[in-house]
Amino acid sequence: MASPLILYGSLVDSISLTHLRYLSNALICINQHGIIDWLVPNVPSSSVASVLSEKGLKGTQVTQLKKGQFLSPGFIDTHTHAPQHPNLGTGGQYQLLDWLENVTFPREARFKDVDYSRKVYERVVKRTLDLGTTTSCYYGSLHLESTKVLADVVHAGGQRGFVGKCNMDSNCPSTYIEPSPSASIADTVSLISHIRSLPASSPTSTPLVQPIITPRFAISCSAPLLQGLGDLVRSEKEAGTEVAVQTHLGENHGEIAFTKEIFAGANERGGMKNGWDGSYAGVYESFGLLGERTILAHCVHLEETELQTIKRTNSGISHCPTSNLNLRSGCAKVGEMLERGIKVGLGTDCSGGYESGILSQIRSASTTSKLISMASPSSAPSSPETPPPEAATSTPRYSTLPQLPLPTLFHLATLGGASLCGLDKVVGNFEVGKEFDALLVDLGEERGNGALWFDEEEGGEEGWLEGGFEQWIWTGDDRNIAKVWVQGRLVGGKDL
Ligand code: GUN
Ligand code: FE
Repeated sequence: MASPLILYGSLVDSISLTHLRYLSNALICINQHGIIDWLVPNVPSSSVASVLSEKGLKGTQVTQLKKGQFLSPGFIDTHTHAPQHPNLGTGGQYQLLDWLENVTFPREARFKDVDYSRKVYERVVKRTLDLGTTTSCYYGSLHLESTKVLADVVHAGGQRGFVGKCNMDSNCPSTYIEPSPSASIADTVSLISHIRSLPASSPTSTPLVQPIITPRFAISCSAPLLQGLGDLVRSEKEAGTEVAVQTHLGENHGEIAFTKEIFAGANERGGMKNGWDGSYAGVYESFGLLGERTILAHCVHLEETELQTIKRTNSGISHCPTSNLNLRSGCAKVGEMLERGIKVGLGTDCSGGYESGILSQIRSASTTSKLISMASPSSAPSSPETPPPEAATSTPRYSTLPQLPLPTLFHLATLGGASLCGLDKVVGNFEVGKEFDALLVDLGEERGNGALWFDEEEGGEEGWLEGGFEQWIWTGDDRNIAKVWVQGRLVGGKDL
């Protein structure tokens, strides 16, 4: 039997929307299946050997973290487009619909070429792992074969992920469109079985790669296609093999107007069976595509009824702040969503967003929340930055705060993202029994990030952790991510 991985040092994780946990001298044991077996905080170094003996692990090798190093849960990217990564940093002059036509569809069309796809996808998976993304929700292109390759590459790279091929049979260029609803659905079914056939790393562990049904957005899908996908979601659920869904919602004013126009027409022609409330979210709901495993990207411009629909169906929202600023889509009102108890995670939305990691999305989400409060200064006091203590057990009134507090931002990046993906019982923090998806963060100057001014002498033996963590969030980058584990396996980071 392989011996467990035992780490000894500091860690930070999210335990709720309002609370971070900082532990020093924690002894943590990860078993051979990658599961956190036990965690003992505040173990003096003189007691490490005796704790190990008590646990029946006398003499097992312990990896000791240095001062300036700590463990963080891995990041969860709840929305990204793998085939768009070669476009990163281009196209920011456009808004959504022109950007799709001029920049994005031409790039994605190239993924007909499976060899090209493999080359790109290998780089995407390696790069995002090194940036600390341990779970990623991937859109592929519309192509079945290249999206199978994406799933293979995610699996081989040891990243946790959801992989879907785009469904798109309408309002797309003739060079990049599916021929019919039935072809689109047949390819989706084929991708789902391919992904389910990928081997788990051990008989007891959760499969790392899961399928996700991916209607690109309502505009690109005919009513029969959305109906077919809704039927597929229902039949999978009835078979006990519930499958996740991801799509876009309420990103841009032109997109919303066009969506309503298209589906008002479909409704008049009797194309929408289950009743439709006239909203964009209502399109997805009427075809059975909203449920607790649905991830809705963007949600910048939502109507009251749409917020209610999302809450009622227990769907979740992927907040993609860099993309929303870059394509001038707007500022999503995350505070309002959280106040209503809607699940929210962060997404890079590459290449609508030009940054592939989640640390940068934490910063963009903060900027977005500050822009919102600056636009309505009367409702936003200048302090406090953190919720008052009485809010400890309830959700703070985010709309009265001048910005999203750090514990909330970090929650979105980790545990909140896990909930959105239906993985909050599996990953997202260091609760005993969860799988070990984690980063070893190193604030040391020798890591070469001159922007991060961490001073070992400040804060004493234990007090450095809170300040150092905050500095990492705002000035850290991949140079400070020394190791990345998924399910206890070392799969990325600068030390690999
Ligand atoms: N809506 C439909 N397709 C896309 C896409 O690729 N990116 C973004 N940001 N929005 C979309
Ligand atoms: Fe997107």
